[in-house]
Amino acid sequence: MAPIQIRVRTGSSQAHYPIVIGSDVSARLAELLDRFDGGRRRLLVSSPRVWSALGTRIRSGLPGVPHVLAPDGEQSKHLRTVVRLYDAMARAGVDRGTVIVVVGGGVLGDMAGLAAATWLRGLALVHVPTTVVAQVDSAIGGKVGVNHARGKNLIGAFHPPLAVLTDPSLLSTLPRREFQAGLYEVVKYGVIASPPLFRRVERGLAAIEAQELRMLVGVIAECSRIKARVVSADEHETGVRRILNFGHTIGHALEAVTEYRRFRHGEAVGWGMLAATEISRARAELPESDATRIAALVDRLGPRPPIDDLSAAACVAATRRDKKVIRGRLHFVLPTAIGATRITADVSEPELTRALRRLGMP
Ligand SMILES: NC(=O)c1ccc[n+]([C@@H]2O[C@H](COP(=O)([O-])OP(=O)(O)OC[C@H]3O[C@@H](n4cnc5c(N)ncnc54)[C@H](O)[C@@H]3O)[C@@H](O)[C@H]2O)c1
Ligand SMILES: [Zn+2]
Repeated sequence: MAPIQIRVRTGSSQAHYPIVIGSDVSARLAELLDRFDGGRRRLLVSSPRVWSALGTRIRSGLPGVPHVLAPDGEQSKHLRTVVRLYDAMARAGVDRGTVIVVVGGGVLGDMAGLAAATWLRGLALVHVPTTVVAQVDSAIGGKVGVNHARGKNLIGAFHPPLAVLTDPSLLSTLPRREFQAGLYEVVKYGVIASPPLFRRVERGLAAIEAQELRMLVGVIAECSRIKARVVSADEHETGVRRILNFGHTIGHALEAVTEYRRFRHGEAVGWGMLAATEISRARAELPESDATRIAALVDRLGPRPPIDDLSAAACVAATRRDKKVIRGRLHFVLPTAIGATRITADVSEPELTRALRRLGMP
């Protein structure tokens, strides 16, 4: 199977970077990098966990390139880890001509991306994403950053990569729960932008869960195309990029009220998509049959950690602190059909509470 190539537009100019997707991309890393970085000096950045799972494969596709490791996982996503990366980059003799090749999930991509954006006022970056979330979402679009005690991703930058090199076969070592959690974001793309993608996941979920490569490559490529299209049109999230937040208003609130310990991000987004779907359904802005299909597909990805011991009032209060509150009004992405959404600022708190109660929250 020839790799699929997708272009992402960046900046106000006509600049582009490629996403290359295929099940032999990791085996061909050296050749692909030569094509996109012109054979510059390289430094691999990964985490102990990712490197012990994939280091041998990465090394055989990209021999002779030094690597440094930094911890990943959400609790490591802060500036202190970025400082450790600066130290490691300095020790490795990184200079302005060096390309940082980050091999890891969204946490590592965001952190190493921030290190690359700032060390020596900016180094070239290539993403080799190794989680579903990183492949369909975080490696695309140029956002990099870390958390602050005040909240998630408050410190950050835009630092578009030279290229995103995506190999879905790297997902084979991912823990089952991480893989499943990423699939909620896949369903999100179907609901916001693509009835064919939605149908493909509905019909092919067993093959996707079995990580059948042809299926996985197709689905990840379709998600990447949607994200690429959206961020190419709106790199800095002033307009259409906001549709990517479908399911995320409630998702973020659930993560916050459980102190980021109970849910994987995708699982919280799963609940959030159900809540937004419920609001649209109650308003009769979404055909009943579409609401049923969305809820059924989200539920097939389960099980998710429960929400029936959390308070709807606390969850609603947490949405008020969301970054997406603009001039005091919370913006909500509501589905109007499978493949179409509407962004609205008129969801009232009682309406939101009713939707959460219908999902079983007291
Ligand atoms: N920049 C963006 O636009 C953007 C978009 C979405 C999400 N994000 C960020 O992404 C982060 C979440 O990323 P994530 O879900 O990838 O989590 P993650 O990076 O924490 O990875 C999950 C776990 O899987 C392990 N892992 C990764 N790849 C593996 C592999 N192939 N085999 C075995 N283990 C592997 C990691 O070590 C980690 O423990 C969040 O911090 C979020 O803010 C950023
Ligand atoms: Zn998300």
